Amino acid sequence: MRILVLGGTSFVGRAIVDDALRTGAEVTLFGRGRTGTDLFPGVPRRIGDRDTGDYAALRDGSWDAVVDVSGYVPRHVGQAMEVLGDRVGRYLFLSSQAVYERTGVGPGSDEDTPPRPPVRDTEELNEDTYGPLKAACEDDVLARYGSRATIVRPGKVAGPYDVQSGLTYWVRRAARGGRVALPGSPEQPVQVVDSRDLARLVVRLLADDRPGAFHAVGPAEPTTMAELITTCARVAGSRVEVVPVPPEAVPPFFPLTRPRSRWSTQQRSPARARAAGMPATPLAVTAADVLAWDRERGEPPLEYGLSPAEEAQLLAGA
Ligand SMILES: NC(=O)c1ccc[n+]([C@@H]2O[C@H](COP(=O)([O-])OP(=O)(O)OC[C@H]3O[C@@H](n4cnc5c(N)ncnc54)[C@H](OP(=O)(O)O)[C@@H]3O)[C@@H](O)[C@H]2O)c1
Repeated sequence: MRILVLGGTSFVGRAIVDDALRTGAEVTLFGRGRTGTDLFPGVPRRIGDRDTGDYAALRDGSWDAVVDVSGYVPRHVGQAMEVLGDRVGRYLFLSSQAVYERTGVGPGSDEDTPPRPPVRDTEELNEDTYGPLKAACEDDVLARYGSRATIVRPGKVAGPYDVQSGLTYWVRRAARGGRVALPGSPEQPVQVVDSRDLARLVVRLLADDRPGAFHAVGPAEPTTMAELITTCARVAGSRVEVVPVPPEAVPPFFPLTRPRSRWSTQQRSPARARAAGMPATPLAVTAADVLAWDRERGEPPLEYGLSPAEEAQLLAGA
């Protein structure tokens, strides 16, 4: 199978390329040639830029499928579809759970939940526009490719090479042990999907030539924040006491925590994706692999979360 990956050299895309190569697929990468330049030697790279609309490198060639990992705004997918046309059999778009409203749905919601109204009049990505821009991209891919379109909507992704703070913050924090400040409720449900499970789903959907939309959410069993933190501690061989602190006491965008009004965003149904072949890696396995990878890379500062000093100050008052 010949697969063109738009992106493929950062966290999520890298896992997809790894899995595609494992299955013996012939992969072609498209990107600016800046990220992960030492990855995947021998895999052909076409150089271009989605921000400037430079797709000249894709003017020739044909593929059984394209996986669009780096499309964020309708112009990205519009220009890619225009240049690729029918030289790709299937267009798989990596979307997000952010296409859905954050409130107003119950636990276990599935892929037929109506997305938020699409947004097309901006290319600025922020908390408010990211989901509606992805929704617009989904609509455009479906309009152009119909039953040759596949949409994958991941929740929070976790695993080695994660460039964000999500699970990595808690893995690192739990490994330090002791009293762990949790800005929110220990009972909060939390969904993280192992990047390798997401990758396996994508590659299976292509191999099976399967249309439709799929939630990529995990882990294997429904989990709460308290269980996630204690699982991370168990894996690291440390002991923790989870101490709830007021969410207002920490900056916004805290890793993995959500207000009660948004808990149902962490209870999406993985049933359709699992039936299509998405594995369900236990959280302990993901956490152990993240811990090993994070230690090997020297635990660089994370974008979000509390420093040890900030946490100590919060805990002193708890
Ligand atoms: N992480 C999560 O928890 C999460 C959750 C839900 C959905 N998602 C979705 O998963 C995807 C994330 O993918 P990712 O982790 O692989 O990282 P990414 O930052 O979306 O993609 C980076 C890749 O795209 C290429 N790229 C970046 N800018 C480009 C440009 N202007 N033109 C052409 N190529 C460009 C990069 O290579 P060069 O730098 O060499 O160009 C690299 O290969 C997104 O679609 C995101 O919405 C992620």
